Amino acid sequence: MSEFVKVLNVTENNYDTKTIEFETSFDARPGQFVMVWRPGMEEIPMSLSATGKVKSISVKRIGPDTEFLHQIKAGDTLGIRGPYGNGYDLSDGRKYLIIGGGIGTASIMPAVEASGADTIIGGRSEADLVLRDRAEKAAKNVWYSTDDGSFGFHGNTVQLFREKQAENHYDCVVACGPEVMLFFLYKACEELGVDCQLSLERHMKCGAGVCGCCVMDGQRVCKDGPVFSKSQIAQLKDFGVQKRDECGRVVKFRKG
Ligand SMILES: Cc1cc2nc3c(=O)[nH]c(=O)nc-3n(C[C@H](O)[C@H](O)[C@H](O)COP(=O)(O)OP(=O)(O)OC[C@H]3O[C@@H](n4cnc5c(N)ncnc54)[C@H](O)[C@@H]3O)c2cc1C
Ligand code: FES
Repeated sequence: MSEFVKVLNVTENNYDTKTIEFETSFDARPGQFVMVWRPGMEEIPMSLSATGKVKSISVKRIGPDTEFLHQIKAGDTLGIRGPYGNGYDLSDGRKYLIIGGGIGTASIMPAVEASGADTIIGGRSEADLVLRDRAEKAAKNVWYSTDDGSFGFHGNTVQLFREKQAENHYDCVVACGPEVMLFFLYKACEELGVDCQLSLERHMKCGAGVCGCCVMDGQRVCKDGPVFSKSQIAQLKDFGVQKRDECGRVVKFRKG
């Protein structure tokens, strides 16, 4: 579905992130994303950070198109195509822990609100922790980690996960964040025998499974993902190792 929507509200979350609210004619599930566009910018993928009647995207400013979206005001028009992707599934009654790293918190927030599950939000410093108010309203427990120790646990989300797992024995972890974080989270889940659903990012053009630009070991991240199960992730050789940029060039996450 492709439509123009009217922006209802824009909230500044922190120094580099804004949340843009709007209503759409379509329903969406937690973990799905949309392609967004305005005249003057490329169409780019954005997770839905709210999936109720009022939907939202939460945009971290990192380059020309996200900067363009940061100029948007209430009453402006936004082009939306979607919703795309499979989304998270927390419907089987197991004990879930939800983890958002940096702007990955936008993707997990609808799952937090739908489930009320325990949640970890991580960032480089206190200023990088976004959507805290919504998590605190919805989740049974919310814990924070910061790399510099300026707020909450001093360390990363994977270290905090290990502590909370030892205390609370979760069955499954649901997470979105930088791929290096997801890689070490996956390794920790393997080691501790915990299931996981991880939302991945790859360069996307169509968002609908057609152009092939987001393919990763035969899986279209836009259509077969962006949320992958633990057994699917075990088959993704590029996971945590490398991705392709907009020109198809290989970009390494780390050596290996
Ligand atoms: C499924 C999915 C969900 C996303 N959800 C969010 C979100 O909720 N909030 C948010 O702030 N960002 C999200 N992103 C990332 C966002 O799409 C990029 O930050 C944005 O496209 C950057 O554009 P730019 O012009 O500002 O920066 P650029 O300078 O053009 O790009 C900076 C980096 O952003 C990434 N990027 C650029 N274009 C694309 C593209 N078409 N597809 C994928 N990655 C791209 C690349 O890694 C690139 O190196 C998501 C990406 C994907 C794939
Ligand atoms: S972005 Fe075109 S197939 Fe995924």
